[in-house]
Amino acid sequence: MTEKSKTNLRIAVFYYTQTGQLLDILKSLTNPLKERGCEIIFKEIVPQEPFPFPWTSDQFYEIFPESRAEVPFKMKEMDFSDILDADLVILGYQPWYLAPSVPVSSFLRLESTGDYLRGRNVLAVAGTRNMWVSAIKSIKSRLDGYGANLVGHIALEDRHQNLISVLTIFRWLINNRKEAGKYLPEAGVSQKDIDSVAAISEDIYKAVSAGDYSLLQKAIVDKDGLRFNPGLYFIESNGNKIWGKWAHWVLKKGEYGDPSRRFRLRLFKYYLLTLLFGISPFGSLFFMLTWPLRRRSYRKIEKNILFLQN
Ligand SMILES: Cc1cc2nc3c(=O)[nH]c(=O)nc-3n(C[C@H](O)[C@H](O)[C@H](O)COP(=O)(O)O)c2cc1C
Repeated sequence: MTEKSKTNLRIAVFYYTQTGQLLDILKSLTNPLKERGCEIIFKEIVPQEPFPFPWTSDQFYEIFPESRAEVPFKMKEMDFSDILDADLVILGYQPWYLAPSVPVSSFLRLESTGDYLRGRNVLAVAGTRNMWVSAIKSIKSRLDGYGANLVGHIALEDRHQNLISVLTIFRWLINNRKEAGKYLPEAGVSQKDIDSVAAISEDIYKAVSAGDYSLLQKAIVDKDGLRFNPGLYFIESNGNKIWGKWAHWVLKKGEYGDPSRRFRLRLFKYYLLTLLFGISPFGSLFFMLTWPLRRRSYRKIEKNILFLQN
């Protein structure tokens, strides 16, 4: 394919964000592209009924079954007419309960979204706590189903120790306190990581101009835009299976907001807190002790996850 002129690259960016973190990441990534003459068209994904922010503790658990089971919610209609000739689609997402957030998964399920994405190149960009593997797998399989190509994946994370980031994210999402306190650091992706992601824009530019994405994911990994943490993967992959069972068990009792499922949700809440603070430290210890036995298989998993193979 011939190189496109520097002024006519058009990039459509879909996003949903509650705190603005994902939009900050997407802007940091795309601002240098704009400076190079690309047209960046932001398209907000909007649910018909907004999700709360900050959440109450009950609301935060209430959305668990629908998130994990990817039950679609009604969305405001997306107008695709101004991005029909986009050269690249950037799909911003954030995981909710190890799946793509409800607004993003609902948007991805719409027939109109599938029609738009068919045959397009998609770069997925996430702002996460630190567990995104199952979410990107789900997104990839949906894109595959539409005949769209996942050409790259960037996931920025909170780099603090897992349990510290659990505490700070609860404080952020439920009490709207993001800043560092006396004992806890600031929540979320660090400003340094948000700023550094801009360096990847160079590689995006080259790939879109040349119509050749074969080197993009390697550049993303080299520039720290996607990291694999074996210990977190171990926790996530085990949690994901069990959470699926919990989600269906709660859904059997009723739909989103139905008071008759409250008891089951409360049990899930206690289970989750026990898992996070009581069991996962032992799980991590077990993982470290058995690491020599896992090293080889994890090397393969790491390669598959970092380089978008199934
Ligand atoms: C209900 C809920 C569940 C979440 N579950 C996860 C998760 O499973 N893995 C993860 O890395 N982050 C999780 N997060 C954090 C989000 O992915 C995200 O980083 C944070 O909510 C800020 O996103 P924003 O761009 O919407 O402001 C969760 C957030 C919410 C609100």
